[in-house]
Amino acid sequence: MKAEKVAVVTGTSTGIGYETSLMLARNGFLTYATMRNLNKSENINLIATKEKLPIHVKQLDVTNDASVKNAVQAILSETGRIDVLVNNAGYVLSGAFEDLTMDEIKAQYETNVFGLIRTTQAVLPTMRQQRSGIVVNISSAAGRFGYPSGSAYVSTKFAVEGLSESMSYELEPFGIKVVVVEPGVIRTNIFNSVVVAKKSQDPNSPYSQIMQKMATGFEDMLKNTSSSADLVAKVVLSAVTNENSNLRYLAGKDVETWLDGKRNMSDEEFYKMMKQNLMR
Ligand SMILES: NC(=O)c1ccc[n+]([C@@H]2O[C@H](COP(=O)([O-])OP(=O)(O)OC[C@H]3O[C@@H](n4cnc5c(N)ncnc54)[C@H](OP(=O)(O)O)[C@@H]3O)[C@@H](O)[C@H]2O)c1
Repeated sequence: MKAEKVAVVTGTSTGIGYETSLMLARNGFLTYATMRNLNKSENINLIATKEKLPIHVKQLDVTNDASVKNAVQAILSETGRIDVLVNNAGYVLSGAFEDLTMDEIKAQYETNVFGLIRTTQAVLPTMRQQRSGIVVNISSAAGRFGYPSGSAYVSTKFAVEGLSESMSYELEPFGIKVVVVEPGVIRTNIFNSVVVAKKSQDPNSPYSQIMQKMATGFEDMLKNTSSSADLVAKVVLSAVTNENSNLRYLAGKDVETWLDGKRNMSDEEFYKMMKQNLMR
């Protein structure tokens, strides 16, 4: 690993982005850990100082054009290159489809989809000029199948999958790779910061029972079959250090089982299995 490889990670205040930044820096990448709120940078800065890691923290809100542009410009003025971009920032909007307002859905897309597009478009001209680079998009098992209460979040991750797959053809001739990482249930702050659609919070919502069942289902999965964020970080590291990286990587002990089911079952069988597992 050459020390001068530069990695940029979005959404690094907690969870997968935080662990991925540490993992990349510990493995020789000059790592720009970006976050929208610099007040949350204390922990990563402490570890970087303690372990003498090549980590720099920069402000970057993926929903804000100027913030993305300024961060990328600042990084380029310090390094002159970007070798790896990890599009990780995201959150979960949960709610029955009929209960979702357009504003709630637009905000979800603004972060999970348009944020990823905005950041990637800001970095690509540099990678194209370098004729090298890897864009890692953190999707989800929810990028491969839907579940009740997840229509907004799931559809953002399906969008990430489609974008990534299409981009990969265009970027390959310029030496740029696209990698999609699909975590299962990972123990992070994401479950504490779920935005529940306002109407779905109402006990009189026609969907309140389904919402309750899903909340219990996720609690069970978190307790019994979840993985830690550093497992995802290891998957990202192995993808970006592999000369022949794949388009898709699964990350998490649960996700292999689900995707085996998706591969081997008919849609109807998969639907039945999901209903039995999620909506007991
Ligand atoms: N945990 C899971 O089970 C799981 C499974 C599959 C996929 N994922 C995906 O993994 C990614 C990371 O999630 P996580 O589990 O690590 O959750 P997390 O601990 O909640 O981290 C999410 C990160 O995204 C940041 N973020 C949110 N909106 C942002 C914005 N507008 N601009 C910049 N940063 C923003 C958050 O910053 P703040 O601290 O400022 O809010 C935080 O740093 C997400 O894309 C998520 O969809 C997670």
